[in-house]
Amino acid sequence: MTSASRTTEETVAELDPIDSAQTPIFLRPDDDRGKELASTFDLEFRDIQSAPATDWYLGCKQGELALCHSSEHSLVISERSVRSKIDDARNTHLAKACMARRGRVVLDAFGGWGIDGLTLSALGCEVTILEVNSLICTMARYLAQELGCTAKVVCADAERYLQDTNEVFDVVYFDPMFPGHPKSAKPVRRMQILEVLARKDPDIEQIFEFAKSRTRDRIVVKRRRTENARGLVPDWNVSGRTVRFDVFQIR
Ligand SMILES: C[S@@+](CC[C@H](N)C(=O)[O-])C[C@H]1O[C@@H](n2cnc3c(N)ncnc32)[C@H](O)[C@@H]1O
Repeated sequence: MTSASRTTEETVAELDPIDSAQTPIFLRPDDDRGKELASTFDLEFRDIQSAPATDWYLGCKQGELALCHSSEHSLVISERSVRSKIDDARNTHLAKACMARRGRVVLDAFGGWGIDGLTLSALGCEVTILEVNSLICTMARYLAQELGCTAKVVCADAERYLQDTNEVFDVVYFDPMFPGHPKSAKPVRRMQILEVLARKDPDIEQIFEFAKSRTRDRIVVKRRRTENARGLVPDWNVSGRTVRFDVFQIR
């Protein structure tokens, strides 16, 4: 049982809902499935002819919400591609570092595609996922819905959200973009596209300070295994082959 409270849902809902005019979906006029997705996710739909010439945009590929580009293959993150990852999650380093269990209230402050947050949700946690980029956030919402996941996915800046919310979380989880790439490792395609779209270099120390007053138990920061903790010295860590979870005990 958790003692954490989620009292101000309305505060959260008012913060940066996805701006449907800023995040339209581009469809062929006869794409009924695309229109259904537009309606479900409250996206304004526009004719595919007016799709951006050089940027990523939302579209529909083989019935799935997709990120599309005029000169790149589309990206579909299907439910199947993440379900097995999530099914294996019980004993992962992420689960251990967050002490994931039923009813634990978790804020995934740097949500990305939502895979870590959805994993924690599958382990029984009550998860709110924040993502500042509305294209990425919409994809995460879609994935959550496809997985039948109860996690709440909010398009918001973590710093502002933590400043404004009255909620208290058992765990606040940070997974900011890692600086650069080790030369040997080419990331999977969804991570390559995340690299292009994601907000980089958030002021993590500043956000960490705001998170402290909103955290009941611990803050967990995911880093590359060999990365310097840069001023934030954890109480302990859970280290894997390539990544490390730094744990900061708050109370
Ligand atoms: C490494 S990714 C997270 C990947 C994620 N853990 C997953 O499993 O898919 C970091 C994400 O944080 C987002 N981000 C960066 N600064 C942010 C901020 N201030 N508020 C919310 N999201 C932010 C980026 O846009 C990016 O999508």
